[in-house]
Amino acid sequence: MGKTTVSVNLAYSLARRGWRTLLVDTDPQGSVGLSLSEKARKCQGFHDAVNSGVSVLPLILPTRLPELKVLSAGQTQNFFSPLEDSMDGPDALRRIVAELSTQKYDIIMFDTPAGLTGIAGEVLQIADRVLIPQQAEPLGIRSIPQILQAIQYLRNNGAKLEVAGILMTMVQPNQKESAEVVRELRSIIPPQLLCATLIPRDPVFLKASAAGVPLGLLHRQPPAAAHVFDQLAAELEPRLRLKSPDQPNEYTRLMD
Ligand SMILES: Nc1ncnc2c1ncn2[C@@H]1O[C@H](COP(=O)(O)OP(=O)(O)OP(=O)(O)O)[C@@H](O)[C@H]1O
Ligand SMILES: [Mg+2]
Repeated sequence: MGKTTVSVNLAYSLARRGWRTLLVDTDPQGSVGLSLSEKARKCQGFHDAVNSGVSVLPLILPTRLPELKVLSAGQTQNFFSPLEDSMDGPDALRRIVAELSTQKYDIIMFDTPAGLTGIAGEVLQIADRVLIPQQAEPLGIRSIPQILQAIQYLRNNGAKLEVAGILMTMVQPNQKESAEVVRELRSIIPPQLLCATLIPRDPVFLKASAAGVPLGLLHRQPPAAAHVFDQLAAELEPRLRLKSPDQPNEYTRLMD
């Protein structure tokens, strides 16, 4: 829970920090489109390219930020079995990724539907890294060891996939049960897998998705939760091994 929210807000923060970012919505329900733009929801997108073999590049949509582009989910013929209408499954996805990698993106981020099967499983087979958002509730974290096992299975079968991090979302630091879940997760997984950044539960997320904007664009002075994604972006940059040739790691003096 919280995958699309994390994708939209993290992609926005990474782009604000200068990384050329493409956010790809692979959810046949078109949830990125839903949370960003009515127009994006109706456009052709990812699933049209998967199903019909058309080039994906003309389907990429610009955003207000020059560094952030979006590939919306597009239309699936068969809503309930979106993968069955893709004739060649992972091959179609590989073709799309090969096309995208001719473009100058620092990050191509895929928002997937829930679970590890279908399109989500295919994306995991071709991805370099996975960020696993996990709701801070007792039932949720029990699935984490299974997810890690599934990732290990994919790696044993040739996938490059590495875990960029497990990200706790909907955290309520003042609530005993929520804090307990974070503590318990720390005790069952290797500590370096857990992101130090915690995404709080905050009604402002609902407001932002109703308005169709990332938190950072909700007000002239974005709410505190918006800055959590800047923190997450900064935490993930080394883990994603992002390096920009034109941004030497130097400071700029505020005054001469
Ligand atoms: N940290 C949060 N605090 C409060 N509400 C949140 C938070 N994160 C997400 N939400 C709300 O929860 C709902 C579901 O979130 P989201 O769409 O990101 O989940 P998802 O994992 O993508 O779901 P799906 O599996 O359907 O794709 C949305 O209404 C969103 O605004
Ligand atoms: Mg979603």
